[in-house]
Amino acid sequence: MRVDIITLLPQIFEKVFDESVLGAAVKNGLIDIVLHQFREYGEGRHKTVDDTPFGGGPGMVFKPAPLVNCIRDVRKKGIHAPVIGLTPQGMPLNQCLVKELALFDRIILVCGRYEGFDERIINEFDFQLSIGDYVLTGGEIAAMTVVDAVSRMIPGTVGCEESVIQDSFYEGILDHPQYTRPANWEGLLVPDILQNGNHALINKYRRSRSLLTTLVTRPDIFATAYLNESDKDIFQEILNTSSNNNL
Ligand code: ADE
Repeated sequence: MRVDIITLLPQIFEKVFDESVLGAAVKNGLIDIVLHQFREYGEGRHKTVDDTPFGGGPGMVFKPAPLVNCIRDVRKKGIHAPVIGLTPQGMPLNQCLVKELALFDRIILVCGRYEGFDERIINEFDFQLSIGDYVLTGGEIAAMTVVDAVSRMIPGTVGCEESVIQDSFYEGILDHPQYTRPANWEGLLVPDILQNGNHALINKYRRSRSLLTTLVTRPDIFATAYLNESDKDIFQEILNTSSNNNL
């Protein structure tokens, strides 16, 4: 998959895309990240890309021509790709959207800065994405988040595909807790069931922990999660246990 990133700060991406899992994916040719400095499209001697807002107010706004010219050039530099603006007004990113994005052979991410984009730039985006209901100083960290999450969905990026499937949100519910040695640390014990080698029981225990954690901490995502027949049995057992214990 190829990801083009249009930004005023290409240098801040280098470390993130050089190291660890993402670095390996880049080295193995699973992801090709191409950074574009759109200052090169700036106007005049100072390569100006922004100006004060009409109507007054704080901060600076990206001028339409430099960014749109850059987007149009980048579009032409490869196969057809959606242009995605990273903005707090965008569609909220979730795992479902991440999986959809991973199906593209190429995407183009556009990072904002300052107070935002001149509204007429928005026509150039196929859609806008937000990584959460808070405002960042720019779209760069949002772009890194998108690339990180999408890369994990590309087969071969994360060594063990099973771990991706079991991860939080992939199947619509949160992940179960994990433990490693020692089995007793400062008096905190690893549940016996994880140490007895019975994989059917271990899977059932993990699934019940995932379901319960999701129900308690994220009822919003639990409401739309797909539950199978054995999940319903797990809940019945939990209800039986709590009524036997007068809970
Ligand atoms: N730029 C600033 N805040 C953002 C957010 N929450 N998501 C995506 N891009 C942004």
